[in-house]
Amino acid sequence: MKVLLIGSGGREHALALSLAKSPLLSKLFVAPGNPGMAKVADLVALDVANHAAIVAFCKLMDVRLVVVGPEAPLVAGLVDDLEAAGIRAFGPTKAAAQLEGSKGFTKDLCRDYAIPTGAYRRFTAPGPALAYVRERGAPIVVKADGLAAGKGVVVAMTNEEAEAAVKMMFDGAFGAAGAEVVIEDFLDGEEASFFAICDGARALPFASAQDHKRVGDGDTGPNTGGMGAYSPAPVMTPDVEARVMREIVAPTMRGMAERGAPFKGVLFAGLMIGAEGPKLIEFNTRFGDPETQVMLPRYQGDLLALMLAAAEGRLPESPAPLSPQTALTVVLAAKGYPDAPQKGGEIRALDKAEAMAHVVVTHAGTKRDGDRLVANGGRVLNVTALGGSVAQAQARAYEAVDAIDFPDGFCRRDIGWRAVAREKA
Ligand code: AMP
Ligand code: GLY
Repeated sequence: MKVLLIGSGGREHALALSLAKSPLLSKLFVAPGNPGMAKVADLVALDVANHAAIVAFCKLMDVRLVVVGPEAPLVAGLVDDLEAAGIRAFGPTKAAAQLEGSKGFTKDLCRDYAIPTGAYRRFTAPGPALAYVRERGAPIVVKADGLAAGKGVVVAMTNEEAEAAVKMMFDGAFGAAGAEVVIEDFLDGEEASFFAICDGARALPFASAQDHKRVGDGDTGPNTGGMGAYSPAPVMTPDVEARVMREIVAPTMRGMAERGAPFKGVLFAGLMIGAEGPKLIEFNTRFGDPETQVMLPRYQGDLLALMLAAAEGRLPESPAPLSPQTALTVVLAAKGYPDAPQKGGEIRALDKAEAMAHVVVTHAGTKRDGDRLVANGGRVLNVTALGGSVAQAQARAYEAVDAIDFPDGFCRRDIGWRAVAREKA
């Protein structure tokens, strides 16, 4: 079967490596892809925003399944347009992608289906929002309603910070995404990400991970798309996972079906695990980046078969087979990331890292320049290693990182610190 994968990041490279292992696959296309994926797929220069061109390509090439990596094409309705043309897709429709595309939509669903989350209110004007901040008091969280590339959230520790965030969002800092603002209670606990594969009616638990959002060691500096991750997340015990499935994922599946927007694809729950149990921070409607780079190396099933079953509404009953090993990934970013990443820095000796046992290197923002490989974006490479413990996976990942010669890049040196400390305790 021929498959088209949409996207160009480390997440999509990891997806491509897993899809390429499937005996069902005859050919993998990626649009637009990155140089790392060229080893397992044909890169196609399609404009992802041009749905008609994607449909035409699928018909011409007899593509039987489209896998959508990032959120923007989902929210733009790519899956709807593919399905209208009779092409199967792994990912939610535009209506179902509102779970990621609108924080207010998700909070209302939580209210209607008693899904545990922070108390909240939605606002379309600054006056009432400022009054609510003063009434509830800090710490409090101010969020732009729409997609803001992960930057639309301010966790305010003082009323002044919260008021400034409200004003900034209504002043248009995030454009239309900030025309509505959600203000919610601050949740205390340990964050974790949990992923379920869904077929419109049922959800199959997949895996957990923990991300590192801040750019600097010790969780300091500005937020990023993610500087590293590991899977599984030790805080996601079997008991917590069962509660997440029962209290958060199952009612969400029911609610979406009842709203006429059955959810299929990946449901990515950002969770806060606190004294009262798991609470939902947010949903994403796609795989995480870099969480995918640590979950897929642990997955021992056939990813293409699983995605096809999800797209066709016939997920298996049996749990997804996952290795008990830990996978840990370190993101190599271009100096200046996240504010002003420096493009063009040369990357050498990648093959040394790739040759190491238990190590997988995936590309994100890279580009070929003649026979050189150069940085072409903020997050440039992911170095992932498997190990019998978080400490072992971490040691292997950093050994591989240190084999790579990328003078214009940097990484965090402490990915996994929380889980390593837990192992030592
Ligand atoms: P989001 O984009 O909604 O995932 O928010 C980004 C980050 O802000 C999360 O990963 C959390 O670290 C933090 N955050 C969001 N909402 C809350 C909340 N209600 N309480 C505490 N932290 C939060
Ligand atoms: N790493 C967080 C995300 O993919 O949204």
